[in-house]
Amino acid sequence: MYKSEKLANQLKLLIENGSLKPHEKLPSLRVQAQISGLSLLTVMNAYQELEAQALIYSKEKSGYYVSNAISEQPDARPMVISLNSKIEINSLIFKYLKSIQGHQIIPFGSAFPNSELMYSKKLIQIMGQITRNKKSYDLSDNLPPGNFQLRKLIAQRYCMQGIAADPDDIVITSGCLDALNLSLQSIAKAGDYILLQQNIFYGAWQAAERLGLKVITIPEHPQYGFDLEAFEHIIKTYPIKVCWLMLNSHNPIGFTVSENIKAKIAELLHQHDIYLIEDDVYEELYFGKTKPLSMKFYDQKNLVLHCSSFSKTLGASFRVGWVFAGKFSQHIQHLQLMSTISVNSILQNALVEFISHHHYEKHLRTLRKHLQQNKLQFFKYLEHKLPPTCTPYFYPSGYFIWMKLPENVDSMTVYQEMIEQNIGVSPSPLFNITAHKPHYLRLNSSFELSETLKQALDTLITCIEKHQNSS
Ligand SMILES: Cc1ncc(COP(=O)(O)O)c(C=O)c1O
Repeated sequence: MYKSEKLANQLKLLIENGSLKPHEKLPSLRVQAQISGLSLLTVMNAYQELEAQALIYSKEKSGYYVSNAISEQPDARPMVISLNSKIEINSLIFKYLKSIQGHQIIPFGSAFPNSELMYSKKLIQIMGQITRNKKSYDLSDNLPPGNFQLRKLIAQRYCMQGIAADPDDIVITSGCLDALNLSLQSIAKAGDYILLQQNIFYGAWQAAERLGLKVITIPEHPQYGFDLEAFEHIIKTYPIKVCWLMLNSHNPIGFTVSENIKAKIAELLHQHDIYLIEDDVYEELYFGKTKPLSMKFYDQKNLVLHCSSFSKTLGASFRVGWVFAGKFSQHIQHLQLMSTISVNSILQNALVEFISHHHYEKHLRTLRKHLQQNKLQFFKYLEHKLPPTCTPYFYPSGYFIWMKLPENVDSMTVYQEMIEQNIGVSPSPLFNITAHKPHYLRLNSSFELSETLKQALDTLITCIEKHQNSS
C-alpha cells in the first residue's frame, strides 16, 4: 500500500468514527507533513484521494475541511421498528415506472445508468461474431445453472477477493432481480419474517408482498449506514428467517457499510442462523482504489446468497445476472426451470469472450471514472444552487444522489409536478413505505451535466423552493 493511501485510510477512519467532525479544518499540507513525517507530495496525494471520495472538500486559499457526507446523512431517527402485516406497494411502483418511461423524460428518476456509458462496443462486436456461429445458439450448454465457462469466470472474480467459490456455487439468472426473487423463494414461505432496511430498492417490498412475508424494517444509522444495535435487538426479538440487505453502494441512499460492521453482521447472522440475501448489484461501481467486500467474504456457514448482475455495468437490457447460491443451487435451478427456463445463450457466450479477454476490467475502469466525474459535477451543482434547507449527500460509489428536502415539502408532490414538465425524479415513498414525512428524493447523476440537464435541475430547485415557501 502506498504511503498516501495509508494516510488517506487513517484520516478516513477518523472521519467515519466522528473524531474529525463535519466542516472541521484539517491540518494544512505542511503541518500534516510535519506530523506524519511524510513528504508534502504524499500528503497532497492523500488529501486529493479523500477529496475524490468527497470525504473532504477544499476552500480556496483556506485549506481542506471534512465534508458532511457521512455524519449528517438521513434523519437521526431513534430505533423505530415497524411490523407490517401487509405490504401494498406494487401499484405505486407500477404507476411510477410507467410515468418515467419515454425518451422525452429527463432521466433523473431512472435506475439505469447513462446508456452512453453502457453497451461496450467491444461486447457488441463480439456478439456480432457469435451470432454468426450456429453453435452458440445451442441451448443445452446454457441451461440452468448456466454456461459453465461464464460461471467459472464469475467464480474466479470471487476468488480474486479472497472468497472461495466454485463454478457449481453459481447460478446464472435473468438479471439481479431474478436472482434475488429466486433466492427469496428458495428460503422463505408465507408468514415467515423478513428483515429489510427501511429504505430499500422497491423490488424487495414487491417480493415480500408477493410471498406474503411479514416485514420488519431496520432504520439506517445516521453515521454508519447500518445500525448494529437495532439489528441485534430485532433478531433477538423476532424470529427472523431471512434478511435482504444492501451494504455496498446502497440504493437509494448510496452509503457503503464499513468492513468492520459487515464482519459484526456476519457474526450475528451465524449466532442466530439467519439467512442473508445480499443485493450487491452496484458492487463494481466503487470510486476508491479497492473494491468493498461482499458479505459472502464473512460467511462461514453458507447463510449468504449473494446476488448481482451485469445490468449496472454493461447494460440492463442484457438481463444477465447471477446468484452465489451454494447449497441452494439445486433448488434455485428447479424454480428457474419452472419460470424463465434459461438465460439467452448468445449473451452468455458473448460474456465469456468479453470477460476472459480482460475487456470487462478495462470497461469497468473507464465506467467508474466517468460515473465519478459526473456524480461530482451533479453534486457540486446541487450544493451550490440548493437552498440551505436542502441537503444532497455524496457517497463515493454508484450514481445516485440522495437529497433531503425541507420537512414541509412532500417528495410525491414534487415528483408529480416534475413529471408534468417531463422531468423524472424518484420520491422516497418508493423506497420506504413506512415514512411519515416523505421528504427525500433520489436523483440519477450518471449523465454529463449538459445545459439541458442544468435547466432541469434549476426547474426542480424552483419547485422545491415554491413548496417550501407556500406552507
Ligand atoms: C438495488 C437494485 N437491485 C436489483 C436491481 C435489479 O437489477 P437487474 O436489472 O440486474 O435485474 C436493481 C435495478 O435497478 C437495483 O437498483
